[in-house]
Amino acid sequence: MLETSIAAVPLKNPVITASGTFGFGHEFQPYFNLSRLGGISSKGLTLNERYGNEGERIYETKSGLINSIGLQNPGVDFFIHHELPFMKGLGTAVIANLGGGSMEEYLGGIEKLNATDVDIIELNISCPNVKHGGMAFGIQTETAYQVVKEVRRVCRKPLMVKLSPNAENIVQMAVRCEEAGADAISLVNTFKAMAIDIKTKKPVFKNVFAGLSGPAIKPIALRMVYEVAAAVSVDVVGMGGISCWQDAVEFILAGAKAVQVGTANFIRPNICLEIIDGIEAYMINEGIRSLEQIRGVAHTA
Ligand SMILES: Cc1cc2nc3c(=O)[nH]c(=O)nc-3n(C[C@H](O)[C@H](O)[C@H](O)COP(=O)(O)O)c2cc1C
Repeated sequence: MLETSIAAVPLKNPVITASGTFGFGHEFQPYFNLSRLGGISSKGLTLNERYGNEGERIYETKSGLINSIGLQNPGVDFFIHHELPFMKGLGTAVIANLGGGSMEEYLGGIEKLNATDVDIIELNISCPNVKHGGMAFGIQTETAYQVVKEVRRVCRKPLMVKLSPNAENIVQMAVRCEEAGADAISLVNTFKAMAIDIKTKKPVFKNVFAGLSGPAIKPIALRMVYEVAAAVSVDVVGMGGISCWQDAVEFILAGAKAVQVGTANFIRPNICLEIIDGIEAYMINEGIRSLEQIRGVAHTA
């Protein structure tokens, strides 16, 4: 009943934990049986380990969270040898989320992940391009197109490209990523945001700007998923502020084949289980036999 697929990879249900909010799964094991998940997207990986940003990293705001983690992670090799075996043993789809500061770094990570049994690679193009003034790859459509095209050339796994909501034009961005060879599109990453400390009278974050997530972004993320789902023919995975099953159903009605849940995991560690059960109960109550029956239905309203 809840089965779906992303880029032809079968998922037992449409609920995936979002990158950077679920680590590699360990910390959430005490809260629920992780095999119930449709999938887990790993913490964002880079070719080599990274220590992340200095200063404030997490800041709560009304109905949201601003983070400036800076992609702290143990690197692709460590992931492959020490985290992937555990994740594969959970019996859920394993998505490796990969970032990079340069084309070479992306390609190096892809080559290593090609040789593993990860089910899907999720390419995070929201990372700053260190060789070009630090503007994220995912802002300008043509820059993103070039990255995805190069990555596609070497990538032998199903490739899901994760879009930034800060893109100059989210619909064109999605269309060009599909043309460059993406097998699926996931969106959205965090929104560029900031906070100011009224005592020090300075920005809270060392990098001044950071990424906003959580319920505050949901209506905008939903609008973006709705628009992108109408414009591409590859599978779309929706996320941004999902914190209950009703939110997840909205994203499916907007055209998403699956959803990712991020910030809500910090508030209720077993929220994904509640969302899975809630979607199932909704389907039973409404007499819906498969997700395909309702996917994208909001477009025909
Ligand atoms: C603390 C934190 C760390 C994150 N790290 C990553 C990351 O490493 N890679 C990535 O693609 N997205 C990362 N994200 C973005 C989330 O995966 C997700 O796209 C975003 O938070 C929107 O969903 P949400 O509102 O449900 O959290 C991070 C988000 C948070 C809050």
